[in-house]
Amino acid sequence: MVGAQWGDEGKGKITDLLSRSADVVVRYQGGVNAGHTVVVNDTTFKLHLIPSGILYPETKCLIASGTVIDPKVLVQELDNLQALGIPADNLRISQTAHVTMPYHRLIDLAEEERKGENKIGTTGRGIGPTYADKSDRTGFRVLDLMCPDRFRAKLDWVLPLKNVLLEKLYGLEALDAEAIQAEYMLYAERLGQYVVDTALFIDQAVRSRKNILFEGAQGTLLDLDHGTYPYVTSSNPISGGACVGSGVGPTIIDRVIGVTKAYTTRVGEGPFPTELKDEVGQHLGDVGAEFGTTTGRARRCGWFDAVIGRYAVRINGLDCLAITKLDVLDELDEIKVCVAYKIDGQKVTEIPLDVHLFGRCEPIYETLPGWKTFTSDCRTVEELPKAAYNYLKFLAAQTGIPVAIVSLGAARGQTIIVEDPIHGPKRGLLYDGDLAVHPLGAE
Ligand code: GDP
Ligand code: IMO
Ligand code: MG
Repeated sequence: MVGAQWGDEGKGKITDLLSRSADVVVRYQGGVNAGHTVVVNDTTFKLHLIPSGILYPETKCLIASGTVIDPKVLVQELDNLQALGIPADNLRISQTAHVTMPYHRLIDLAEEERKGENKIGTTGRGIGPTYADKSDRTGFRVLDLMCPDRFRAKLDWVLPLKNVLLEKLYGLEALDAEAIQAEYMLYAERLGQYVVDTALFIDQAVRSRKNILFEGAQGTLLDLDHGTYPYVTSSNPISGGACVGSGVGPTIIDRVIGVTKAYTTRVGEGPFPTELKDEVGQHLGDVGAEFGTTTGRARRCGWFDAVIGRYAVRINGLDCLAITKLDVLDELDEIKVCVAYKIDGQKVTEIPLDVHLFGRCEPIYETLPGWKTFTSDCRTVEELPKAAYNYLKFLAAQTGIPVAIVSLGAARGQTIIVEDPIHGPKRGLLYDGDLAVHPLGAE
């Protein structure tokens, strides 16, 4: 299951839903930049690193190799869950995931400031610097964290380098190796019980014919390779990232589900062709409560972008969509969908890979009527107002794949399962073979 836009599509809610039939849920990339909200009855859970499957007592939850782990935040997350009566016995952490260090957080924040106008608008959680050190082979893995001598020896050659940056480039105070060692060994003590070879764990689950859900964080357009670089995160949220980040071959994945909002949001900097800076954008933000789960920042809001939708289908090999937050459109007179772009008067039907060109794309819209009806109580597509049903059908036709799930509110029950996305046939009700656009993007 992957995000099909710029993150915050409602993946937490959909993972929670799909976890009911999953034996194992795996987070395969990203770190505590993610914020996944799950609402169960009167309790709102905000998860950053622990897979949303943790709310089911039988489900095993894995934080796999491709993630970066801030142990300070993970320990807090475990404490918060335990305070709410959720045990974490089913959690497993990869030995080879990388560890976010105190200097990663400081460098992330300081570098954003130094970039000034060119800043990315990161979550400030040290994600980029942690992945940079992983590539540079100066990173700390969970294995190092679990071995005090090895951790200290590595710190003694890595920290002097980081302290030069902190002091000389950013004008910050140098960090003390002794203090980091003491703090991190406490985390090691707390987390040690969960550490395993997660790739082997998954292999054993595959061999026992278990259902495994790979839960993406962030979204397709935040992908380091295939997103709107440099306004991206430092990992691969796309479906291919699930193989690399978990240590499984692509042949074990049966289905790929894309989660998308019925409109679009983005936090942080970077181009966003359908962004609405008017009262409609404000309305979407207010009704959709569009504030970041991790940073509290207001999310930028705009219309659904079918060019992005088709791109997400192509890059992830999506089988079907879970469309969230349809209810947020309930009060609108009319709803627009971007079906193509214009650059200098020329029609373009694919996202330009050059972010400067992408920034110059003007949306070409089709306008659909609104339904002006409260939808959160609908439980089948037939109960939906005709215009809402037609809107979903339009999105299916534009993206070329069926809609399997429709979400109409944050609560578990506020959902229409059009088709079981895991076990059902690969054609959802809203796909009638009459596609405006071929799944591979050709008109
Ligand atoms: P994620 O990062 O993809 O898991 O998404 P977030 O949790 O960051 O943001 C989605 C927000 O929308 C959360 O506050 C959810 O509780 C909420 N949400 C999810 N689905 C729906 C829905 O269908 N309708 C409404 N109104 N809110 C929803
Ligand atoms: P979930 O999993 C939305 C964005 C940041 C910034 C860019 C880089 O909740 O969907 P980073 O801290 O990763 O270096 O920031 O990526 N970003 C997200 N936006 N949802 C997320 O996660 C995000 N994680 C990172 O806002 O633009
Ligand atoms: Mg989020």
